[in-house]
Amino acid sequence: MKKISLLILLSGIGTAVLASEQEAKPIAIPEPSLGLSVTEILVLALLVFAIVLLLVSIVLFKAFKVMAKEQLHPTPYQKYVPEAPLDYEEWLKTKKSKPGIWSKLLSLKPIEQEQELVIPHAYDGIHELNNPVPKWFNILFYGTMIFAVGYIYYYHIGEYGQKQDQEYETEMAKAAEDKRKFLAQAVNKVDESTVKVDKTLIANGKNVFMANCIACHGEHGQGLVGPNLTDEFWLHGGSINDIFKTIKYGVPAKGMVSWEKSMSSVNIAEVANYIVSLQGSHPANAKAPQGEKYEAKAATDTLKNESSPKK
Ligand code: HEC
Repeated sequence: MKKISLLILLSGIGTAVLASEQEAKPIAIPEPSLGLSVTEILVLALLVFAIVLLLVSIVLFKAFKVMAKEQLHPTPYQKYVPEAPLDYEEWLKTKKSKPGIWSKLLSLKPIEQEQELVIPHAYDGIHELNNPVPKWFNILFYGTMIFAVGYIYYYHIGEYGQKQDQEYETEMAKAAEDKRKFLAQAVNKVDESTVKVDKTLIANGKNVFMANCIACHGEHGQGLVGPNLTDEFWLHGGSINDIFKTIKYGVPAKGMVSWEKSMSSVNIAEVANYIVSLQGSHPANAKAPQGEKYEAKAATDTLKNESSPKK
């Protein structure tokens, strides 16, 4: 009777909990977000509480069940039966368990087998034991020999692999090559927006100019087919960036070549710097000025202003 009433009570609690869960579910947050409102948090807390309550009631129910069972049919107590004391020999037998990992790893033999290991000779009454070498050690040992044969054949007889010093040299050469490539790439990244006035580029720029540009701009940049590059007047802007851009993309419609394809951006930067350095050189037979007068706006625009900004 007790059990049944308990069951009814507990199931009542259970259904109550379930009901509260069912009620809570529709209100539960549709999608979990961090910005929970107070009601949402409360509902969530209630839900958690309901689940905990359910678990607790299940555990309690089980406990009560066991208690009720014990009340109705108590399990009889077990009687203490003292164990008969073993004699030494038998106790030893129980001790002889399997060898441990350590003994296995070192191939250790149990002390009872010591007699089998004794080497039949004695010096001053001292006997020697022939303890076996562990198998793994032997494998390793002979393995190194096999490896050595392979190694000598690969590196010293067949000369398939590089020796240490050769390897060092190859790696250094590769590093130097990588470095060269990297630096070349870093320099090549210059374009019309990053080009800077730089005196050190002028010498190379002159070579580039002599090789490519004099046919149209004259030996001193005084202008022939192309405009005079030594005056302050520019058709396409006189800043280093503008000049770079003109050279890079050209003015195909007016006969100025685009040099982007046939020249590296470094070379363009160099020749642009050379042209900037020609400013105010007043060569003979100069072509009449064309375009608009350009005045250096920024400190970086002309070589003269490179270190002393114009106020
Ligand atoms: C085939 C003839 C020709 C060659 C070669 C040539 N240019 Fe030009 N260049 C011209 C002409 C023509 C113009 C004028 C374009 C215009 O009227 O818009 C010009 C314009 C320019 C301008 C702009 C001038 C301004 O007033 O804005 C620059 C800078 C320039 N050239 C630099 C170079 C450089 C540097 C080289 C050599 C790498 C070069 N040019 C080779 C024909 C040439």
